[in-house]
Amino acid sequence: MSGSFEEYLASIVKEDILVDKAMNYALTAPGKRLRPLLLLSFIQDCGFSAEHGYQCAAAIEMIHTYSLIHDDLPAMDNDDIRRGRPTVHKRFDEATAVLAGDALLTKAFEVVADSKYTDYEKVRIVSILAKCAGHQGMIKGQDLDMALLTRENIEIDDLSMMEYYKTGMLLTAPLLCAAVLTKHTELETQIIEIGKKIGLAFQIQDDVLDYTAGEQIMGKSTSDAKNNKVTFYNLLGLKGCTDVYTKLYNSAIRDIDLMPIGLNSVKKIILDMRNRRR
Ligand code: IPE
Ligand code: IPE
Ligand code: MG
Ligand code: MG
Ligand code: MG
Repeated sequence: MSGSFEEYLASIVKEDILVDKAMNYALTAPGKRLRPLLLLSFIQDCGFSAEHGYQCAAAIEMIHTYSLIHDDLPAMDNDDIRRGRPTVHKRFDEATAVLAGDALLTKAFEVVADSKYTDYEKVRIVSILAKCAGHQGMIKGQDLDMALLTRENIEIDDLSMMEYYKTGMLLTAPLLCAAVLTKHTELETQIIEIGKKIGLAFQIQDDVLDYTAGEQIMGKSTSDAKNNKVTFYNLLGLKGCTDVYTKLYNSAIRDIDLMPIGLNSVKKIILDMRNRRR
């Protein structure tokens, strides 16, 4: 990710009270920045500067970061390491972690509302972010994730749905927002299909890496076994998972090739995702 996007991200939250420090601690930690990369690549493929997408990309990264802070809390996955650092509730405390997550989510909408985008673009982006992050998006996936823990006989279809919601929706959001910023909203249906495929593929890889990569490489606690989570890795094993996620990525790449606009940089990001080791 470009240094100037990182600088912009680090400049958003001015530090005064403890929660501000916790917000920046999580936000400026070395994440892969995949969601910003997808958005910035899309708009650059359409002839816009990367800088034009910074405010929207930052808002999505703030929402994603909030989801990680809360996902790590003792009430959820109870994890100690994230992005190579102690989790927010470990470095600060639980109350501060709850508040930092809440504040990043809220701040994301402030960033969009106060952005340089047109009023139409702002309203569309707010709607996309709220839907993808909310109770019919990422939160729904997290709710299903917790509910699945107490169920026996979990089917692939249940897991696929949960993984699409918890991870796929927030990976689709940058593509949908980029379509708004580049005036290509007519492509919404195709974009949602692509988002579904890469979102599910990405989370299946995450399930595999949780067992195979180790905490050092992942930069986060790998706790699915400890938490008795049933994941794709348990149901399909390494080879089964690799086949499924490779097919999903390849299908998404074919969809991109069929789009009426050239999205070569987006395609490259998806190829990098397919090959990821962390
Ligand atoms: C982690 O997302 C949570 C999942 C959705 C699997 P990332 O793997 O994109 O995490 P960062 O942003 O690089 O830390
Ligand atoms: C959570 O999935 C995805 C989010 C909505 C944060 P995981 O619980 O598998 O994510 P990691 O492995 O902790 O990053
Ligand atoms: Mg989780
Ligand atoms: Mg987790
Ligand atoms: Mg995981």
